[in-house]
Amino acid sequence: MELSIKGMTPLRGEIEISSSKNAILPILVAALLADESVTINKVPDISDVTIINQLINSLGVAARMEDERVVIEGQPNGHQPPYELVRQMRASFLVMGPLLARQGKVRITLPGGCAIGTRPVDLHLKGLRAMGARIDITSGDVIASAKKLIGNHIYLDFPSVGATENIMMAACLADGTTYIENAALEPEVVDLANFINHLGGNISGAGSNVIRIRGVRRLWGGEYTPIPDRIEAGTYMVAASASAGRVLIKNVVPEHIKAVTAKLKESGAEAEERGNQIEVSRKDEIRPLYIKTLPYPGFPTDMQAQYMAYLSCADGSSVITESVFENRFMHIQELMRMGARIRTEGRTAVIKGEKELTGARVKATDLRAGAALLIAGLNARGTTVISDSEHIDRGYEKIVEKLNALGAQITRQPESH
Ligand code: EPZ
Repeated sequence: MELSIKGMTPLRGEIEISSSKNAILPILVAALLADESVTINKVPDISDVTIINQLINSLGVAARMEDERVVIEGQPNGHQPPYELVRQMRASFLVMGPLLARQGKVRITLPGGCAIGTRPVDLHLKGLRAMGARIDITSGDVIASAKKLIGNHIYLDFPSVGATENIMMAACLADGTTYIENAALEPEVVDLANFINHLGGNISGAGSNVIRIRGVRRLWGGEYTPIPDRIEAGTYMVAASASAGRVLIKNVVPEHIKAVTAKLKESGAEAEERGNQIEVSRKDEIRPLYIKTLPYPGFPTDMQAQYMAYLSCADGSSVITESVFENRFMHIQELMRMGARIRTEGRTAVIKGEKELTGARVKATDLRAGAALLIAGLNARGTTVISDSEHIDRGYEKIVEKLNALGAQITRQPESH
Protein backbone atom coordinates (compact mmCIF):
# COMPACT_ATOMS: atom_id res chain seq x y z
CA MET A 1 0.00 0.00 0.00
CA GLU A 2 1.00 3.64 -0.32
CA LEU A 3 -0.02 6.81 1.46
CA SER A 4 -0.73 10.07 -0.34
CA ILE A 5 -0.29 13.17 1.83
CA LYS A 6 -1.38 16.69 0.92
CA GLY A 7 1.15 19.12 2.43
CA MET A 8 0.94 22.39 4.37
CA THR A 9 -1.70 21.16 6.85
CA PRO A 10 -1.20 22.40 10.43
CA LEU A 11 -2.35 19.73 12.92
CA ARG A 12 -4.92 20.82 15.48
CA GLY A 13 -6.90 18.90 18.10
CA GLU A 14 -6.40 15.95 20.46
CA ILE A 15 -4.81 12.53 19.95
CA GLU A 16 -4.82 9.41 22.17
CA ILE A 17 -1.59 7.39 22.42
CA SER A 18 -1.84 3.58 22.25
CA SER A 19 0.01 1.06 24.43
CA SER A 20 3.71 0.60 23.74
CA LYS A 21 4.59 -1.81 20.91
CA ASN A 22 8.04 -2.36 22.42
CA ALA A 23 6.55 -3.20 25.82
CA ILE A 24 3.80 -5.46 24.47
CA LEU A 25 6.00 -7.66 22.24
CA PRO A 26 8.23 -8.94 25.11
CA ILE A 27 5.23 -9.09 27.49
CA LEU A 28 3.26 -11.33 25.12
CA VAL A 29 6.32 -13.59 24.76
CA ALA A 30 6.79 -13.67 28.54
CA ALA A 31 3.25 -15.04 28.87
CA LEU A 32 4.78 -18.32 27.60
CA LEU A 33 6.38 -18.62 31.05
CA ALA A 34 3.03 -18.65 32.90
CA ASP A 35 1.24 -21.84 34.04
CA GLU A 36 -2.18 -20.23 33.74
CA SER A 37 -3.92 -17.90 31.31
CA VAL A 38 -2.79 -14.31 30.86
CA THR A 39 -4.79 -11.32 29.60
CA ILE A 40 -3.07 -8.22 28.24
CA ASN A 41 -5.34 -5.15 27.97
CA LYS A 42 -5.33 -2.19 25.56
CA VAL A 43 -3.31 -3.99 22.90
CA PRO A 44 -3.10 -1.89 19.70
CA ASP A 45 -4.13 -3.40 16.38
CA ILE A 46 -0.69 -3.28 14.67
CA SER A 47 0.93 -5.89 12.43
CA ASP A 48 3.82 -6.64 14.83
CA VAL A 49 1.25 -7.81 17.40
CA THR A 50 -0.40 -10.01 14.76
CA ILE A 51 2.99 -11.60 13.99
CA ILE A 52 3.89 -12.26 17.64
CA ASN A 53 0.47 -13.84 18.23
CA GLN A 54 1.02 -16.10 15.19
CA LEU A 55 4.40 -17.03 16.63
CA ILE A 56 2.91 -17.91 20.04
CA ASN A 57 0.17 -19.98 18.34
CA SER A 58 2.86 -21.82 16.35
CA LEU A 59 4.33 -23.02 19.66
CA GLY A 60 1.06 -24.65 20.71
CA VAL A 61 -0.12 -21.83 22.94
CA ALA A 62 -3.41 -20.06 22.10
CA ALA A 63 -3.03 -16.28 21.68
CA ARG A 64 -6.36 -14.69 20.80
CA MET A 65 -7.02 -10.99 20.12
CA GLU A 66 -10.54 -10.04 21.29
CA ASP A 67 -11.27 -6.35 20.61
CA GLU A 68 -8.39 -4.64 22.46
CA ARG A 69 -7.27 -7.58 24.60
CA VAL A 70 -5.02 -10.54 23.99
CA VAL A 71 -5.78 -13.71 25.97
CA ILE A 72 -2.98 -16.27 26.09
CA GLU A 73 -3.55 -19.78 27.41
CA GLY A 74 -1.98 -23.21 27.20
CA GLN A 75 1.53 -24.56 27.61
CA PRO A 76 4.13 -24.48 24.83
CA ASN A 77 4.66 -27.88 23.14
CA GLY A 78 6.83 -26.68 20.25
CA HIS A 79 10.39 -25.44 20.36
CA GLN A 80 11.01 -24.33 16.76
CA PRO A 81 9.25 -21.10 15.76
CA PRO A 82 8.64 -20.88 11.99
CA TYR A 83 11.48 -19.40 9.90
CA GLU A 84 9.27 -16.93 8.00
CA LEU A 85 7.82 -15.41 11.18
CA VAL A 86 11.24 -14.96 12.83
CA ARG A 87 12.67 -13.42 9.65
CA GLN A 88 9.77 -10.98 9.46
CA MET A 89 10.31 -9.56 12.93
CA ARG A 90 13.48 -9.44 15.00
CA ALA A 91 11.53 -9.35 18.27
CA SER A 92 10.61 -13.02 17.59
CA PHE A 93 14.08 -13.87 18.89
CA LEU A 94 12.81 -13.06 22.38
CA VAL A 95 11.09 -16.49 22.52
CA MET A 96 14.52 -18.06 23.16
CA GLY A 97 14.53 -17.26 26.88
CA PRO A 98 11.02 -18.57 27.66
CA LEU A 99 11.43 -21.72 25.50
CA LEU A 100 14.75 -22.58 27.16
CA ALA A 101 13.16 -21.99 30.56
CA ARG A 102 10.03 -24.06 29.82
CA GLN A 103 11.09 -26.66 27.23
CA GLY A 104 14.84 -26.87 27.83
CA LYS A 105 15.42 -26.51 24.10
CA VAL A 106 14.84 -24.16 21.18
CA ARG A 107 15.79 -24.03 17.53
CA ILE A 108 15.41 -20.59 15.93
CA THR A 109 16.75 -18.96 12.82
CA LEU A 110 19.08 -16.00 13.31
CA PRO A 111 16.96 -12.84 12.91
CA GLY A 112 17.67 -11.10 9.63
CA GLY A 113 19.50 -7.83 9.48
CA CYS A 114 17.11 -5.10 8.45
CA ALA A 115 17.26 -1.58 7.11
CA ILE A 116 18.89 -0.31 10.31
CA GLY A 117 21.93 -2.55 10.42
CA THR A 118 23.18 -6.10 11.00
CA ARG A 119 21.77 -6.25 14.56
CA PRO A 120 23.67 -9.25 16.01
CA VAL A 121 22.39 -11.35 18.94
CA ASP A 122 25.78 -12.16 20.51
CA LEU A 123 24.80 -10.60 23.84
CA HIS A 124 21.59 -12.66 24.01
CA LEU A 125 23.63 -15.85 23.47
CA LYS A 126 26.38 -14.78 25.91
CA GLY A 127 23.79 -14.43 28.67
CA LEU A 128 22.01 -17.72 27.95
CA ARG A 129 25.36 -19.59 27.77
CA ALA A 130 26.29 -18.06 31.15
CA MET A 131 23.13 -19.68 32.56
CA GLY A 132 24.25 -23.09 31.33
CA ALA A 133 22.62 -23.32 27.90
CA ARG A 134 24.52 -25.26 25.25
CA ILE A 135 24.26 -23.20 22.08
CA ASP A 136 25.39 -24.08 18.55
CA ILE A 137 24.84 -22.13 15.36
CA THR A 138 24.47 -24.28 12.25
CA SER A 139 23.26 -23.18 8.82
CA GLY A 140 21.73 -19.97 10.08
CA ASP A 141 19.88 -21.61 12.97
CA VAL A 142 20.59 -21.18 16.68
CA ILE A 143 20.18 -24.57 18.41
CA ALA A 144 20.10 -24.28 22.20
CA SER A 145 19.41 -26.70 25.04
CA ALA A 146 19.61 -26.67 28.83
CA LYS A 147 18.44 -29.29 31.34
CA LYS A 148 18.00 -26.53 33.88
CA LEU A 149 19.09 -22.89 33.65
CA ILE A 150 21.28 -21.77 36.55
CA GLY A 151 21.45 -18.16 37.77
CA ASN A 152 24.71 -16.29 37.09
CA HIS A 153 26.34 -12.84 36.84
CA ILE A 154 26.07 -11.52 33.28
CA TYR A 155 27.77 -8.35 32.04
CA LEU A 156 26.35 -6.79 28.86
CA ASP A 157 29.01 -5.10 26.72
CA PHE A 158 26.21 -2.82 25.45
CA PRO A 159 22.94 -2.12 27.32
CA SER A 160 20.96 -4.06 24.70
CA VAL A 161 17.18 -3.90 25.21
CA GLY A 162 16.52 -7.30 23.62
CA ALA A 163 19.39 -9.07 25.35
CA THR A 164 18.29 -7.68 28.73
CA GLU A 165 14.72 -8.89 28.10
CA ASN A 166 15.71 -12.34 26.77
CA ILE A 167 18.04 -13.01 29.71
CA MET A 168 15.49 -11.69 32.22
CA MET A 169 12.82 -14.07 30.92
CA ALA A 170 15.21 -17.05 30.96
CA ALA A 171 16.36 -16.21 34.50
CA CYS A 172 12.98 -15.87 36.17
CA LEU A 173 12.43 -19.69 36.32
CA ALA A 174 16.13 -20.61 36.70
CA ASP A 175 17.78 -22.18 39.76
CA GLY A 176 19.34 -19.42 41.85
CA THR A 177 19.84 -15.73 41.22
CA THR A 178 20.92 -13.89 38.05
CA TYR A 179 22.43 -10.42 37.93
CA ILE A 180 22.38 -8.53 34.63
CA GLU A 181 25.05 -5.82 34.78
CA ASN A 182 25.03 -2.85 32.38
CA ALA A 183 21.38 -3.75 31.72
CA ALA A 184 19.17 -1.62 29.46
CA LEU A 185 17.21 1.03 31.40
CA GLU A 186 14.38 1.49 28.89
CA PRO A 187 10.80 1.84 30.33
CA GLU A 188 9.79 -1.21 28.28
CA VAL A 189 12.31 -3.32 30.24
CA VAL A 190 10.79 -2.02 33.49
CA ASP A 191 7.28 -2.82 32.21
CA LEU A 192 8.35 -6.40 31.38
CA ALA A 193 9.81 -6.82 34.88
CA ASN A 194 6.62 -5.43 36.46
CA PHE A 195 4.54 -7.84 34.37
CA ILE A 196 6.64 -10.88 35.36
CA ASN A 197 6.50 -9.85 39.03
CA HIS A 198 2.72 -9.52 38.68
CA LEU A 199 2.70 -13.21 37.69
CA GLY A 200 4.75 -14.16 40.76
CA GLY A 201 8.28 -13.47 39.53
CA ASN A 202 11.01 -11.98 41.71
CA ILE A 203 12.84 -9.25 39.79
CA SER A 204 14.37 -6.13 41.32
CA GLY A 205 16.47 -3.28 39.97
CA ALA A 206 14.74 -2.95 36.59
CA GLY A 207 15.31 0.61 35.40
CA SER A 208 18.79 0.63 36.94
CA ASN A 209 21.89 -0.82 35.35
CA VAL A 210 21.94 -3.89 37.60
CA ILE A 211 18.85 -6.12 37.49
CA ARG A 212 18.58 -9.00 39.98
CA ILE A 213 16.33 -11.94 39.07
CA ARG A 214 15.68 -14.60 41.73
CA GLY A 215 14.46 -17.79 40.04
CA VAL A 216 11.02 -19.00 41.20
CA ARG A 217 9.36 -22.39 40.69
CA ARG A 218 6.46 -21.20 38.55
CA LEU A 219 4.52 -18.18 37.33
CA TRP A 220 0.72 -18.10 37.63
CA GLY A 221 -1.71 -16.23 35.34
CA GLY A 222 -2.99 -12.68 35.54
CA GLU A 223 -4.13 -9.54 33.75
CA TYR A 224 -1.90 -6.59 32.80
CA THR A 225 -2.09 -3.20 31.05
CA PRO A 226 1.18 -2.10 29.36
CA ILE A 227 2.62 1.45 29.44
CA PRO A 228 1.78 3.99 26.71
CA ASP A 229 4.01 4.12 23.63
CA ARG A 230 6.63 6.83 24.24
CA ILE A 231 7.84 6.72 20.62
CA GLU A 232 4.33 7.07 19.18
CA ALA A 233 3.86 10.03 21.55
CA GLY A 234 7.19 11.57 20.51
CA THR A 235 6.33 11.09 16.84
CA TYR A 236 3.05 13.02 17.17
CA MET A 237 4.74 15.71 19.29
CA VAL A 238 7.26 16.34 16.49
CA ALA A 239 4.52 16.23 13.84
CA ALA A 240 2.53 18.83 15.77
CA SER A 241 5.52 21.16 16.07
CA ALA A 242 6.72 20.57 12.50
CA SER A 243 3.28 21.63 11.21
CA ALA A 244 3.21 24.73 13.45
CA GLY A 245 -0.08 23.41 14.82
CA ARG A 246 -1.39 22.87 18.33
CA VAL A 247 -2.06 19.29 19.52
CA LEU A 248 -3.00 17.87 22.92
CA ILE A 249 -1.38 14.44 23.21
CA LYS A 250 -3.20 12.20 25.70
CA ASN A 251 -2.16 9.05 27.60
CA VAL A 252 1.58 9.77 27.88
CA VAL A 253 4.13 9.29 30.69
CA PRO A 254 6.08 12.59 30.56
CA GLU A 255 8.95 10.96 32.47
CA HIS A 256 9.49 8.54 29.55
CA ILE A 257 9.93 11.27 26.94
CA LYS A 258 12.05 13.83 28.82
CA ALA A 259 14.78 13.93 26.14
CA VAL A 260 12.26 14.30 23.30
CA THR A 261 10.40 17.11 25.10
CA ALA A 262 13.64 18.89 26.03
CA LYS A 263 14.91 18.93 22.42
CA LEU A 264 11.52 20.06 21.14
CA LYS A 265 11.57 23.05 23.52
CA GLU A 266 15.20 23.76 22.52
CA SER A 267 13.98 23.99 18.91
CA GLY A 268 11.54 26.76 19.90
CA ALA A 269 8.34 24.74 20.37
CA GLU A 270 6.00 24.93 23.38
CA ALA A 271 5.45 21.62 25.19
CA GLU A 272 3.27 21.94 28.27
CA GLU A 273 2.97 18.86 30.53
CA ARG A 274 -0.38 18.40 32.28
CA GLY A 275 -0.41 15.10 34.20
CA ASN A 276 -0.57 12.37 31.54
CA GLN A 277 -1.09 14.87 28.72
CA ILE A 278 1.27 17.15 26.80
CA GLU A 279 0.17 20.08 24.64
CA VAL A 280 2.61 20.88 21.83
CA SER A 281 2.55 23.99 19.64
CA ARG A 282 4.98 26.23 17.78
CA LYS A 283 4.81 29.84 16.59
CA ASP A 284 8.46 30.81 15.99
CA GLU A 285 11.03 29.50 13.50
CA ILE A 286 12.44 26.01 14.15
CA ARG A 287 15.83 26.50 15.78
CA PRO A 288 18.61 24.08 14.68
CA LEU A 289 19.73 21.39 17.15
CA TYR A 290 22.64 19.13 18.07
CA ILE A 291 21.33 15.61 18.75
CA LYS A 292 23.15 12.41 19.70
CA THR A 293 21.12 9.22 20.12
CA LEU A 294 21.96 7.19 23.22
CA PRO A 295 20.51 4.33 25.23
CA TYR A 296 17.73 5.42 27.64
CA PRO A 297 17.47 7.96 29.24
CA GLY A 298 19.45 9.57 26.42
CA PHE A 299 17.80 10.78 23.22
CA PRO A 300 16.04 7.72 21.72
CA THR A 301 17.34 6.31 18.43
CA ASP A 302 13.70 5.56 17.52
CA MET A 303 13.08 9.32 17.33
CA GLN A 304 16.15 10.14 15.20
CA ALA A 305 14.50 9.94 11.77
CA GLN A 306 11.49 11.99 12.88
CA TYR A 307 13.74 14.80 14.18
CA MET A 308 15.75 14.74 10.95
CA ALA A 309 12.55 15.41 8.98
CA TYR A 310 11.63 18.17 11.44
CA LEU A 311 15.07 19.84 11.30
CA SER A 312 15.12 19.74 7.48
CA CYS A 313 13.15 23.01 7.76
CA ALA A 314 15.05 24.55 10.67
CA ASP A 315 16.47 28.08 10.52
CA GLY A 316 20.10 26.93 10.25
CA SER A 317 22.21 23.75 10.26
CA SER A 318 21.67 20.87 12.70
CA VAL A 319 23.88 17.89 13.55
CA ILE A 320 22.53 14.43 14.40
CA THR A 321 24.80 11.57 15.50
CA GLU A 322 23.34 8.04 15.55
CA SER A 323 25.39 6.17 18.15
CA VAL A 324 23.10 3.15 18.79
CA PHE A 325 22.79 1.60 15.31
CA GLU A 326 25.48 1.58 12.66
CA ASN A 327 23.21 2.20 9.70
CA ARG A 328 20.07 4.10 10.60
CA PHE A 329 20.23 6.79 7.91
CA MET A 330 18.18 5.12 5.15
CA HIS A 331 15.59 7.92 5.40
CA ILE A 332 18.16 10.56 4.35
CA GLN A 333 18.07 9.72 0.63
CA GLU A 334 14.27 9.81 0.72
CA LEU A 335 14.18 13.18 2.54
CA MET A 336 16.64 14.53 -0.03
CA ARG A 337 14.17 13.64 -2.81
CA MET A 338 11.89 16.18 -1.07
CA GLY A 339 14.60 18.85 -1.16
CA ALA A 340 16.24 18.29 2.23
CA ARG A 341 19.95 19.24 2.31
CA ILE A 342 21.70 16.51 4.34
CA ARG A 343 25.33 15.40 4.31
CA THR A 344 26.64 12.39 6.28
CA GLU A 345 30.06 11.60 7.66
CA GLY A 346 29.88 8.05 9.10
CA ARG A 347 27.34 8.12 11.92
CA THR A 348 26.91 11.89 11.83
CA ALA A 349 24.52 13.80 9.58
CA VAL A 350 24.57 17.57 9.01
CA ILE A 351 21.15 18.93 8.06
CA LYS A 352 21.12 22.37 6.41
CA GLY A 353 17.62 23.75 7.05
CA GLU A 354 15.50 24.74 4.04
CA LYS A 355 12.52 27.14 3.99
CA GLU A 356 10.26 24.28 2.93
CA LEU A 357 10.36 20.81 1.36
CA THR A 358 8.57 19.75 -1.82
CA GLY A 359 6.21 16.79 -2.06
CA ALA A 360 7.68 13.78 -3.90
CA ARG A 361 7.30 10.02 -4.38
CA VAL A 362 9.34 8.38 -1.58
CA LYS A 363 9.77 4.94 -0.01
CA ALA A 364 9.48 3.85 3.64
CA THR A 365 12.54 1.72 4.46
CA ASP A 366 11.62 0.97 8.08
CA LEU A 367 9.02 1.91 10.66
CA ARG A 368 10.53 5.14 11.97
CA ALA A 369 11.85 6.25 8.56
CA GLY A 370 8.26 5.91 7.32
CA ALA A 371 7.05 8.09 10.19
CA ALA A 372 9.71 10.67 9.33
CA LEU A 373 8.52 10.82 5.70
CA LEU A 374 4.94 11.31 6.93
CA ILE A 375 6.09 14.27 9.03
CA ALA A 376 7.98 15.72 6.06
CA GLY A 377 4.98 15.16 3.77
CA LEU A 378 2.57 16.92 6.15
CA ASN A 379 4.61 20.10 5.82
CA ALA A 380 5.91 19.94 2.26
CA ARG A 381 4.54 22.02 -0.60
CA GLY A 382 2.40 19.74 -2.78
CA THR A 383 1.65 16.03 -2.42
CA THR A 384 3.94 13.29 -1.12
CA VAL A 385 3.38 9.61 -1.89
CA ILE A 386 5.00 7.09 0.48
CA SER A 387 5.25 3.55 -0.90
CA ASP A 388 5.85 0.43 1.27
CA SER A 389 3.72 2.10 3.93
CA GLU A 390 3.23 -1.33 5.56
CA HIS A 391 6.38 -0.50 7.52
CA ILE A 392 4.48 2.32 9.25
CA ASP A 393 1.53 0.08 10.14
CA ARG A 394 3.90 -2.20 12.11
CA GLY A 395 4.03 0.24 15.00
CA TYR A 396 1.49 3.04 14.57
CA GLU A 397 -2.11 2.05 15.22
CA LYS A 398 -4.64 3.85 12.95
CA ILE A 399 -2.06 6.53 12.06
CA VAL A 400 -4.00 7.77 9.00
CA GLU A 401 -7.23 8.08 11.00
CA LYS A 402 -5.44 9.69 13.96
CA LEU A 403 -3.68 12.29 11.78
CA ASN A 404 -6.71 13.03 9.58
CA ALA A 405 -8.69 13.70 12.78
CA LEU A 406 -6.14 16.48 13.42
CA GLY A 407 -6.71 18.04 9.99
CA ALA A 408 -4.21 16.08 7.90
CA GLN A 409 -5.26 15.01 4.40
CA ILE A 410 -3.87 11.50 3.97
CA THR A 411 -5.32 8.75 1.80
CA ARG A 412 -4.28 5.10 1.65
CA GLN A 413 -4.13 3.59 -1.87
CA PRO A 414 -2.74 0.49 -3.61
CA GLU A 415 0.84 0.85 -4.92
CA SER A 416 0.48 2.74 -8.20
CA HIS A 417 3.65 1.61 -10.04
C1 EPZ B 1 14.84 -2.56 20.66
O1 EPZ B 1 15.49 -3.28 19.64
C2 EPZ B 1 13.63 -1.93 20.00
N1 EPZ B 1 12.75 -2.98 19.50
C3 EPZ B 1 14.08 -1.02 18.84
O2 EPZ B 1 12.92 -0.38 18.32
C4 EPZ B 1 15.02 0.06 19.41
O3 EPZ B 1 15.51 0.84 18.34
C5 EPZ B 1 16.19 -0.61 20.15
O4 EPZ B 1 15.68 -1.50 21.18
C6 EPZ B 1 17.10 0.41 20.81
O5 EPZ B 1 16.36 1.19 21.71
C7 EPZ B 1 11.94 -3.64 20.38
O6 EPZ B 1 11.95 -3.38 21.56
C8 EPZ B 1 11.04 -4.69 19.81
P1 EPZ B 1 19.21 -3.44 21.09
P2 EPZ B 1 16.71 -4.29 20.02
O7 EPZ B 1 19.44 -4.88 21.33
O8 EPZ B 1 16.43 -4.97 21.30
C9 EPZ B 1 23.54 -4.00 19.31
C10 EPZ B 1 11.41 0.27 16.66
O9 EPZ B 1 11.51 1.12 15.77
N2 EPZ B 1 23.44 -5.39 19.79
O10 EPZ B 1 19.15 -2.49 22.25
O11 EPZ B 1 16.99 -5.11 18.82
C11 EPZ B 1 22.63 -3.78 18.11
O12 EPZ B 1 23.29 -4.18 16.93
C12 EPZ B 1 12.57 -0.66 16.96
O13 EPZ B 1 10.40 0.12 17.40
C13 EPZ B 1 24.57 -6.21 19.75
O14 EPZ B 1 25.64 -5.77 19.31
O15 EPZ B 1 17.90 -3.24 20.22
C14 EPZ B 1 22.41 -2.29 18.13
O16 EPZ B 1 23.50 -1.64 17.51
C15 EPZ B 1 13.71 -0.44 15.97
N3 EPZ B 1 24.49 -7.49 20.19
C16 EPZ B 1 22.41 -1.96 19.63
O17 EPZ B 1 23.01 -3.09 20.29
C17 EPZ B 1 23.32 -8.01 20.69
O18 EPZ B 1 23.31 -9.19 21.11
C18 EPZ B 1 21.02 -1.76 20.19
O19 EPZ B 1 20.32 -2.95 20.02
C19 EPZ B 1 22.18 -7.17 20.74
C20 EPZ B 1 22.26 -5.86 20.28
